[in-house]
Amino acid sequence: MAMPKEPISFEVLGASVRLGPGAVQEVGAFFKKAGSKKVFIATDKGVVKAGLVKPSLASLEKAQIGYEIFDEIEPNPSDRTVMAGAELFKKTGCQAVLGVGGGSALDAGKAIQVMAVHPGHVSEYFGVAAASKINQPKPYYIAVPTTSGTGSEVSRGCVITNAVTNTKSVVRAGLPQLAVIDPEMTLSLPPFLTAATGMDALSHSVEACVSNAYNPICMALALEGIRLIGRSLKTAVQKGTDLEARLDMAVASMMGALAFQKGLGAAHSLAHQLSTEAGIQHGVANSILLPHVMRFNLNEASRELSEIGRALGENGSSLSAAEAGERACAAVTRLSREIGLPQRLRDVEVKESQIPLMAEKAMGDWCHPFNPRPCRQADMESLYKEAY
Ligand SMILES: [Fe+2]
Repeated sequence: MAMPKEPISFEVLGASVRLGPGAVQEVGAFFKKAGSKKVFIATDKGVVKAGLVKPSLASLEKAQIGYEIFDEIEPNPSDRTVMAGAELFKKTGCQAVLGVGGGSALDAGKAIQVMAVHPGHVSEYFGVAAASKINQPKPYYIAVPTTSGTGSEVSRGCVITNAVTNTKSVVRAGLPQLAVIDPEMTLSLPPFLTAATGMDALSHSVEACVSNAYNPICMALALEGIRLIGRSLKTAVQKGTDLEARLDMAVASMMGALAFQKGLGAAHSLAHQLSTEAGIQHGVANSILLPHVMRFNLNEASRELSEIGRALGENGSSLSAAEAGERACAAVTRLSREIGLPQRLRDVEVKESQIPLMAEKAMGDWCHPFNPRPCRQADMESLYKEAY
């Protein structure tokens, strides 16, 4: 597929997208069209230091739009950070939000967007059941991803960590009004983060594919996302400046997040605890766990897993669905090894003694109810042990 000559616009499953190299230079014009005069920029210090906010600032200045930069967002953003951001948004008279960064910055931006116009504390909006409380018109939000992994720019939820209980919860903030996906924003992403975030994107599509919900559109997006990752993740890791590979990964990340409107699964429930309890990067956690969870699901989702194998380039035409599914698990392990990611939980200094508590917490996570094979706490524990 050729590189687009200029950014393209489309709407898909509720998301509005502007996609292509150079798209970030248009954010000022989009805010102007939305009538925003002052924009709150949700980002982090690393993104600012890498110079990735600069193109947005230039675009805002060109459109004569004021801005306030909030660069306090940490990995696995906490409820405290969200409340501090919302306070600053109100104090500085901002009218719109621009999120620039990886999943943490974009997610915190969504929660700040909610808390800028809703009463109380963000923890009152935790959980799917609290979505009905988010009922006020929210400020216009443009999300600009600088990684290709979470797809937060096109997802409805944001994951916020309760600083007291150290538990991740989802806030159903709704989709950003616009996702500006510019692969040039990911050209300087280091190999390790490219690999880790890429495996997060793969986990989204794989878990969506096998999830127990019916949604053929999400299924199609998930399989194409997996194909693009199979085609380009290695190149993006080995040659970060390859714009075509970066575009493939940006698109695959978006597709993965759209696909998980169909649900995620046990790998994400297990991975969330590894971040909060052991500080493991989300993509690394998913990458280690995914093949084990795929094998756990082999009986319930052999057909879907064999399709995943095909999307990754495995030729399973002469094999049974179970054999082809096993090939898919092996293909995921091989890919994560080839891009240099750790293979076992012991390699990332997780302590075996942490497993029982993480297994217990994983049962309370919102993702595994979509797993095709129901999970008990003992299953969660076994999966951690297999990955150890
Ligand atoms: Fe994820």
